Amino acid sequence: HTFQLNVDEFVDNSENYTQAVDLLNNGEIVAFPTETVYGLGAVATNEQAVKKIFAAKGRPSDNPLIVHIGTVEEVSLYTTNISEVAQKCMEAFWPGPLTLVMDVKPNVLAPSVTAGLDTVGIRMPDHPVALELLQTLKKPLAAPSANRSGKPSPTKAEHVFEDLQNIIPCILDGGMTGIGLESTVLDVTLDTPVILRPGGVTKEMLEAVIGPVVEPSLEQQKIESTPKAPGMKYTHYAPDAPVYLIEANKKAIETAIAELKPVHKVALLAPQNFEEIEADYYFSFGNEHDLEQMSASLYDALRSCDKTDATIILATATSKNGVGTAIMNRLEKAAGGKWYSL
Ligand code: TXA
Ligand code: MG
Repeated sequence: HTFQLNVDEFVDNSENYTQAVDLLNNGEIVAFPTETVYGLGAVATNEQAVKKIFAAKGRPSDNPLIVHIGTVEEVSLYTTNISEVAQKCMEAFWPGPLTLVMDVKPNVLAPSVTAGLDTVGIRMPDHPVALELLQTLKKPLAAPSANRSGKPSPTKAEHVFEDLQNIIPCILDGGMTGIGLESTVLDVTLDTPVILRPGGVTKEMLEAVIGPVVEPSLEQQKIESTPKAPGMKYTHYAPDAPVYLIEANKKAIETAIAELKPVHKVALLAPQNFEEIEADYYFSFGNEHDLEQMSASLYDALRSCDKTDATIILATATSKNGVGTAIMNRLEKAAGGKWYSL
């Protein structure tokens, strides 16, 4: 049985936080909102609790978890060799959607958190509920996204409920998350920092603060035999029906749909200016020129397809400028790299 606690910012929620903190202190796992996506948290120093995360998600044990902290100062409790680059990143982007991969301090965190690596991904989230929870708990929270492994990350409490009802005891419901895509993961243990996963903090934003940063393409990531971000080798963000990318061009989409209609139920995921196209199902990415709106609505749109009997999903590609890099990264993964071709 899973209960949902509303933590609407206009009412006194202290009892709900107390309840969540008690559960966490008792070795239970709790879902909570962050500014990116909902996380599934366990006290990061409690190995038994952390193991429950992997079981609840069906997550492979070689994929490490991000550690969330409620104050910047805590970073030195869990990491060593904090470089100047790391320091600058924390000052500029924390709290916020940037996870820093740093050298882990030995024998402090539960072993499963780092999955045997000598580094740890760590971030301070920028969300009132996440921060209130962490600052009341006064302990670090290991938290991956609160979805079943392979599914799109949850941007609403109801997404968490769909995936994990009766599997986890509690969801803190803080409404829709803001950014809608997972944090940027930046490895700062290397001479030139490497973006292991693009997100809301873009390459340009990072370079303005720390100078040159490497951002491998999806193709480059695949070629590497031992991926630096173990999560990159798994299928991700995928609804049940196959997803195909398609150019954001009315003629191309109409032609594809005409061709598919005799044998398929087609779901179209596209900006609002394509809504008059006659697909069997249509889910909007919002305004075509507003990449923030598109990243906020992407996972909800992908998840909505699972509630239909669509047998194929067409999703329009977007620019790779700014946060478009992160949007296209997730879309390419959801599509397994497939583009629709006539
Ligand atoms: O926005 C987010 O980052 C959300 C919210 C809940 O904070 N969390 C999230 O966690 O997306 P998860 O577990 O779904 O993704 C974590 C990613 C994975 O790709 C994992 O492989 C990578 O970060 N990662 C974690 N620790 C790492 C490490 N030490 N070295 C390299 N990659 C690491
Ligand atoms: Mg995830």
